Amino acid sequence: MDLHLGQAQPTHEEKLAADSVLGTPDGENSSGRDLLLPTLHAIHHRMGWISPGAVNYAATRLKVAPAEIYGVASFYGLFSLSPRPPVVAHVCDDIGCMVRGAEKLCHQIESALGPAGSACAGGRATWLRSSCLGLCERAPAALISSAGENPKERVVAAATSEGIQTLVKDAIAEKLPSEPDTLNIQLSVPQAGSPNLRLLRRVGRTNPASLDDYRVQDGYEALRMTFDMGPEGVIRKIADSELVGRGGAAFPTARKWQALHAQRRLGLPQYIICNADESEPGTFKDRILMEGDPFAVLEGMTIGAVATGAQRGYIYLRAEYPLAAERLSHALKIARENGLLGENILGRGLNFDIELRRGAGAYICGEETALFNSIEGYRGEPRNKPPFPTQSGLFRRPTAVNNVETLINVPEIIRSSGAAKDIANARLFCLSGHIVRPGVYEIEMGMTLRDLIGLAGGVGGNGRLQAVLLGGAAGAFVSLKELDLPLTFEATRAIGATLGSGVVMLFDDSVDLKQILLRIAAFFRHETCGQCVPCRVGVVRQEEALQRLIQGKPLGSAGQEISTLKEMAQAMRDASICGLGQTASSAIESALQRWSLFS
Ligand SMILES: Cc1cc2nc3c(=O)[nH]c(=O)nc-3n(C[C@H](O)[C@H](O)[C@H](O)COP(=O)(O)O)c2cc1C
Ligand code: SF4
Repeated sequence: MDLHLGQAQPTHEEKLAADSVLGTPDGENSSGRDLLLPTLHAIHHRMGWISPGAVNYAATRLKVAPAEIYGVASFYGLFSLSPRPPVVAHVCDDIGCMVRGAEKLCHQIESALGPAGSACAGGRATWLRSSCLGLCERAPAALISSAGENPKERVVAAATSEGIQTLVKDAIAEKLPSEPDTLNIQLSVPQAGSPNLRLLRRVGRTNPASLDDYRVQDGYEALRMTFDMGPEGVIRKIADSELVGRGGAAFPTARKWQALHAQRRLGLPQYIICNADESEPGTFKDRILMEGDPFAVLEGMTIGAVATGAQRGYIYLRAEYPLAAERLSHALKIARENGLLGENILGRGLNFDIELRRGAGAYICGEETALFNSIEGYRGEPRNKPPFPTQSGLFRRPTAVNNVETLINVPEIIRSSGAAKDIANARLFCLSGHIVRPGVYEIEMGMTLRDLIGLAGGVGGNGRLQAVLLGGAAGAFVSLKELDLPLTFEATRAIGATLGSGVVMLFDDSVDLKQILLRIAAFFRHETCGQCVPCRVGVVRQEEALQRLIQGKPLGSAGQEISTLKEMAQAMRDASICGLGQTASSAIESALQRWSLFS
């Protein structure tokens, strides 16, 4: 990139793009730094990249140093700071897609379009390899984005080389289909229609764009009840349900909400955030919920506002979910028009609104404090804790962060007349890889892993199961001997595993697990924010050590190299400041414990 940022001028189009977010310089305008990410998105969507002139313009408009703007823009994987063709095919080569032919697909694309990153179609298109796109039930997957006056993003899954090339051609001709994706319920939610479902009961059965349909299926009944229960009543009911967060850390939701409620005495603005970043490889449950039941996410957040006293909410959605973005935006608009968001909600004196913010391709922004920095317009780097978010969160104000699935539980719990605990015992799992019927499954906690695999039709691929990855890239592998594991927090913890974000990815015995470990290591090397040394250095050294082991060229013996890997894992666990560094070795270590992969 041109380092003479100070001299570069924006083009007319770049100015128009930034002004669409910031307002015209001489008219009504907003200049908060938290508008930086939306501004960068607007520029990128219009131009396909962010030029030095555009950086300067954003800097002038936001009164932030150009170097700061550059620092933020360069943090995010989806932003390009060098000229790039307007049409980009992002082809997933992460673990879920790897076992479903992603490598072959990438080779085919390479033959057709040239090497990844190079321009094709007369400079109008390119393709790139991508980390998990959250479409694992339909792997392999790709996302086509086209920049310009009418930018579009379209998903193709299951992707073929021909399918991707057709969409690239359509994008160049500005003929992409108007729907970003379609939610194929039979494929994505094989249990759809089953009378026992709680969390997924509306998905595929109601029109996600219709508030009337949502209301017919009990929508907004819980919010009405909430007003009569008051904050204490709501928090008590959530506490009775023993609901714990579904974002990975399993923290009791009522405790979080109680802590925020208690901060009301300070009279500060308070926030509730729906964490919809969902970038853990193998996870797609939140996407299905947002695509299939978006009003329930809003209702859960609004109930959270009653309970905690938050006046404003944010949904932080990963950038790679265009259909979820469209469905949520529509639901927000309809909710506002119907007095379900905004001033004096349902005439009960509650003032609360929600804003949708999109990430830009950074897994770390799912970590709650990194997410705050991202919304505020800084690099998505985690903060030290304490202070905890309920004390000092978004804009340094008290904040509660809740996962999408956690929030979907809330209206169900409030409405329940029986034991609320039964509701919170339901949990979503994302089945992918070598499974007969991949998709999101809702089960009662405590079902064994074997039974869950059976529910999804059994082992796919060649039918000979080798390993299961539980909890995602930050989770752990389990072996065939452990299939009778009850899926509970306690039982998984006892074997050194985790339910994490609900990933259950199967690998048959044709898969080279060493290559899967290497891909996981590459993922963490790519996604570290680089802020603290043990993680920044550890994830690089971890990948290098695995590469040497795979090539049969360990430093010393294979045993010595593995000991070094374990020592590094311990150092990362002990000394990293956030969960990314602390868990970046978990899956790799779990595999080394269970199998002699390098002897
Ligand atoms: C690297 C990293 C990524 C994370 N990504 C997500 C995510 O995508 N979605 C999510 O809900 N929680 C994610 N979390 C956990 C959040 O920090 C936080 O605990 C969670 O959103 C709280 O919501 P819950 O209590 O409902 O689970 C992540 C944590 C780490 C360390
Ligand atoms: S542990 Fe890694 S991702 Fe987390 S703050 Fe440190 S460097 Fe960043």
